[in-house]
Amino acid sequence: MAKARIGLIGLGVMGANLALNIADNGFPVAVYNRTTDRIYDFIDSAGDLAPILVGAKTPEALIDALTPPRAIIIMVQAGAPVDQTIDALKPYLDKGDILIDAGNADFNDTRRREAALREEGYRFIGMGVSGGEEGARNGPSIMVGGTREAYAEISDIIEAIAAKYDGAPCADHLGADGAGHFVKTVHNGIEYADMQMIAEVYGVLREGEGRSPAEISKLFGTWDTGPLQSYLAEITHKVLAATDPDTGNPMVDIIMDKAGQKGTGRWTLIEALKLGQSASTIEAAVGARSWSAAKDLRILGEATLTPATLSTTPDVTDADLEGALLAARVIAYAQGFSLLAAASEEFDWALDLARTAEIWRAGCIIRSALLDDIATAFRSDLPGNSLILAPYFAKVLADTVPALRKVVSQSALSGQPIPALASALGYYDTMRRARGTATLIQAQRDFFGAHGFERTDRDGSGYHGPWGS
Ligand SMILES: NC(=O)c1ccc[n+]([C@@H]2O[C@H](COP(=O)([O-])OP(=O)(O)OC[C@H]3O[C@@H](n4cnc5c(N)ncnc54)[C@H](OP(=O)(O)O)[C@@H]3O)[C@@H](O)[C@H]2O)c1
Repeated sequence: MAKARIGLIGLGVMGANLALNIADNGFPVAVYNRTTDRIYDFIDSAGDLAPILVGAKTPEALIDALTPPRAIIIMVQAGAPVDQTIDALKPYLDKGDILIDAGNADFNDTRRREAALREEGYRFIGMGVSGGEEGARNGPSIMVGGTREAYAEISDIIEAIAAKYDGAPCADHLGADGAGHFVKTVHNGIEYADMQMIAEVYGVLREGEGRSPAEISKLFGTWDTGPLQSYLAEITHKVLAATDPDTGNPMVDIIMDKAGQKGTGRWTLIEALKLGQSASTIEAAVGARSWSAAKDLRILGEATLTPATLSTTPDVTDADLEGALLAARVIAYAQGFSLLAAASEEFDWALDLARTAEIWRAGCIIRSALLDDIATAFRSDLPGNSLILAPYFAKVLADTVPALRKVVSQSALSGQPIPALASALGYYDTMRRARGTATLIQAQRDFFGAHGFERTDRDGSGYHGPWGS
């Protein structure tokens, strides 16, 4: 049998769909899965694509089924399973073969694996894939890290299977070693923030104003045709319209109000703090998921803590909520891109932020109407390299921050939790002041710890205040 052009290990949700996508684009693909029954079940259910799928019962058989230099996508659970898979392959690899981790890896692991494999003569690509099951099958957004020459050997396949925006593939090489996985991590962080802000607006409409899921669904459907157009608005519209087949109730009412926050959301925060950054909207979103998981505490809290008494219904219009969501979304993207810029400098990736925005325009979970304008902003001479200072986005914020202020203040008065929306406003109000209140922080630090400070009227540092003993 003719050898396959590429191999894939891990026929779970993502791997199986990615393999079908590759085959659908005409590339013969050899597949292996730890639980071998899954291999043949997969090929048996592949229909017309079965003839260009090659099942391999062992890692060795997989290697034998590929044309050298071999390229093998690993799509297994992130963490130790990736190392175990690499170890299982290594005895059969030749120098120059390319391993591609397409799972949601911690970019620190990707950097470690890339360095270790390079030392042994192998090539390693860390590839972030976004778009869930549907994206994997029909076209995900693909963020590639590793060497440019290794990517060049598989770019025809990757670009063929990727989502297309105006005919251009939403896949590219972004930088060395862990760049692709870092960009995917921050992508997911922005996704956390956007989902949380949408949920907060849903809370204002549902609990604050007592509107039904069906009504709110319609609103998101309308918003999805305007500046908030996005995959997340689209699925919110669909999710809120769904009813539970068993009870006939709105599906959203049957779902337990607890969300997890492991993996990429948490990693975004950890890496932001290590880089001396703060992506406050993402922090708020990750934190809100932790609070959601504290169900027992919230049950006690509802029985014990005093509700808002100044107002019960937030006095906001639908247009205010639309504007608030748009302002907060711009700020979440701005924080995410600032984090990417900081990491690019730290790890010497020379990340192309415009290109990053471009490959998020289709296929991925955070695709939205804003990304084209974000790419345009990064292609121009951006003041401070910050999205909120781009003339286009400064104008969007000028138009929408008044609505964000109204939604945040009205929600606070009526006791609606809006941690991510409030954090977006806090960031905006901090960034529009040249002089802030860290003056007092520095004075306090000097008072109790003699840390010293800089003065505004003299050069140098290490000045102390007249605090006495
Ligand atoms: N689901 C999504 O929407 C999504 C989106 C983007 C990225 N991702 C990432 O894609 C990766 C795969 O996710 P998934 O949703 O496809 O997972 P999944 O459906 O749970 O499948 C997991 C796969 O990993 C394999 N595996 C687990 N432990 C292994 C080990 N120790 N050695 C070898 N193989 C092992 C499993 O093999 P067995 O059949 O033998 O158990 C299975 O093929 C993860 O990194 C995930 O974070 C997922």
